[in-house]
Amino acid sequence: MAKGSKKQPSPTPGYVLSEVLELRRLIDLHNHHYHTLDDPKIPDADFDSLLRRLELLETEWGLSVSDSPSLDVGGSVSEKFSAIAHSLPMLSLDKIFDFNDLYSFEDGVKNRLGTDYSSVYSCEPKIDGIAISLLYQGGELVRAATRGNGVIGEDVTHNIRTISNIPKKLKSFNKSALLEVRGEIYLGKSDFALLNARNLANFEKTFVNPRNTAAGAIRQLDSDLTKELPLQFFCYGIGQTKNIRFPHSLTDVFAQLREYGFPINERQRICTGSEQIIKYCEKLQQDRESLDYEIDGVVLKLDDLSLQNRLGVRARSPRWAVAYKFPAEEKTTIVLGVDFQIGRTGAITPVARLQPIFVGGATISNTTLHNMAEIARLGLCVGDKVLVRRAGDVIPKIVSVIEPAGPESRKEIRMPSTCPACGAGLELSGEILYRCSAGSACTAQLKESIRHFSSRNALNIDGLGDKLISQLVDAELIKEAADLFGLDYFELIKLERMGEKSARKILLAIDKSRDVTLSRFLFALGIREVGETTAASLANYFQNLDELLSASSRSLEEIEDVGPIVASNIVSFFSDHGNLQMIEKLKQHGVRLTHSSIPSARENPSFLNKIFVVTGTLSSMKREELKGKVLGLGAKVSGSISKSTDYLVAGDGAGSKLAKAESLGIKVLNELEFIELITPSNSGEN
Ligand code: IVH
Repeated sequence: MAKGSKKQPSPTPGYVLSEVLELRRLIDLHNHHYHTLDDPKIPDADFDSLLRRLELLETEWGLSVSDSPSLDVGGSVSEKFSAIAHSLPMLSLDKIFDFNDLYSFEDGVKNRLGTDYSSVYSCEPKIDGIAISLLYQGGELVRAATRGNGVIGEDVTHNIRTISNIPKKLKSFNKSALLEVRGEIYLGKSDFALLNARNLANFEKTFVNPRNTAAGAIRQLDSDLTKELPLQFFCYGIGQTKNIRFPHSLTDVFAQLREYGFPINERQRICTGSEQIIKYCEKLQQDRESLDYEIDGVVLKLDDLSLQNRLGVRARSPRWAVAYKFPAEEKTTIVLGVDFQIGRTGAITPVARLQPIFVGGATISNTTLHNMAEIARLGLCVGDKVLVRRAGDVIPKIVSVIEPAGPESRKEIRMPSTCPACGAGLELSGEILYRCSAGSACTAQLKESIRHFSSRNALNIDGLGDKLISQLVDAELIKEAADLFGLDYFELIKLERMGEKSARKILLAIDKSRDVTLSRFLFALGIREVGETTAASLANYFQNLDELLSASSRSLEEIEDVGPIVASNIVSFFSDHGNLQMIEKLKQHGVRLTHSSIPSARENPSFLNKIFVVTGTLSSMKREELKGKVLGLGAKVSGSISKSTDYLVAGDGAGSKLAKAESLGIKVLNELEFIELITPSNSGEN
């Protein structure tokens, strides 16, 4: 380089340029699928990763151009509809994915405002629907437009008029005033489920998710089709206004809009600073499943409108707001293989081994495929790229094959011809279920049945984990669950990695489990199709084991929850000599059936079949314990509030369930009131 000449910036390497071009192509393509065709081809999280990568490369290498998809809001305008120019652009929101990003966002706001103090934010659920702008002239709805490309939207007034919770005429509104209200159109989860159930029954096409169904319905030419869906609206802000005054904070604006008759989300709250915001986000994420509309995060907006003005907007998003996205509930990954697991009743279940992915807040490396029919339904082979969904605490599932593997690596999934654990033959039980025919001679079945026997809702043997059960069975120290009570300390400490202290601890835990209620005992036996609820019903009805042992199928069928199949399973379990011997052995080992302190349904039938719902955090007992008590009363536990709910037990931090129960006039009990209600002297009063 010649002396004194200026250093040239290094040119962008070709591979970076081609990646940027490819990212722009992909983002344009997926934007088209999502916004124009209402038929996305990849999960939102994958799209967000593409966008983040493009933004990073463009910033690092100075490659920003004005027509990059990183700078627009993603949508487009279809020629099917008349175009409407937004007088104020309808922007998108910047996204953050963790709380470190939140701290940076808050620091950025403080810096721009030149203050060390935290600001007040309006925190709202980020509804997963479609943005809409509604224009009111003199209080009359005159026009509705989609966001389109942010500057020009599509005129969908005819469809919007079919939505019942959008006011068509505003209450007490000035004739010369103009008001643009913005918000989100969505389809409720339960309405979506109903729609799909109905379509399925009529052999019609089912929909993929509520968001795309709603988007498709809004962008129909024929509003009779839109009318068929019970679409709803939440309002989240205002656009242009004339001859109308609004308060200076968003919260107060919402109050005024509510007065006009607009639906405002009941979860909107104000929070000051990151710590409060984090609490809000965590709570909303916890309650996400229980809401009847889909949300994918939290929108944080400066509550003070003059501060919003001071910060202003960028090309595609405001500086005064940000969207915190919940961990994605859908991601793509590769199926590495399929294992066949053997359950305690010998049922063989295919389980997909996955390339680990972080989805719905947990890392998933395998997931059940249920049965061969499910594999056929998915058209799944080993090597395929699949969409995995994990929502809340629900077990993850493979939703669909996104991209089949190439012919060289794609491998068909076949049911093995013999039990993969013991080599015994398989039997077809019903139409799709295969079982290992070896019973407890199959070590895999034996291990599973002991795991069930000792599990928390059965005998609750603390510290008896899968590994130890495996060791005990493999070392032939136990051949059936009853052998647990005959375990010898000196045999136990011979096991690998078993110290003296651990051995004593486990023996103590086994000893402690000797006193067990009839209901837990029945559940622990693992009778086919006798779950916790049925076990509780049986225990309530029979009071002691001997009565149950001699019960006929017919008398069993008189019990709530017991149909002919379960009754015959019970009768055949108790006619099996091996099972009776094991029960005898358990008695000999000192297992004693105790009675719960709660009056049984027979002694006090006032709770029989009553429906309880539990919400919030309990302080004196775990939820499982409360559930056990409720079942013990002959009552039922449900996960959601409906008109048929009899009681809601509300612990700390109860949220939407409490509100719903109150609105339906359902009896709400705190923990203490629940205990008082079920203790003998009070029980029966309600
Ligand atoms: S405020 C300039 N609030 O998220 C900010 N948007 O990516 C305007 N959305 O297009 C949006 N819930 O369709 C806001 N409570 C909420 C929202 C919300 C959902 C959507 C909206 C927007 C997109 C931004």
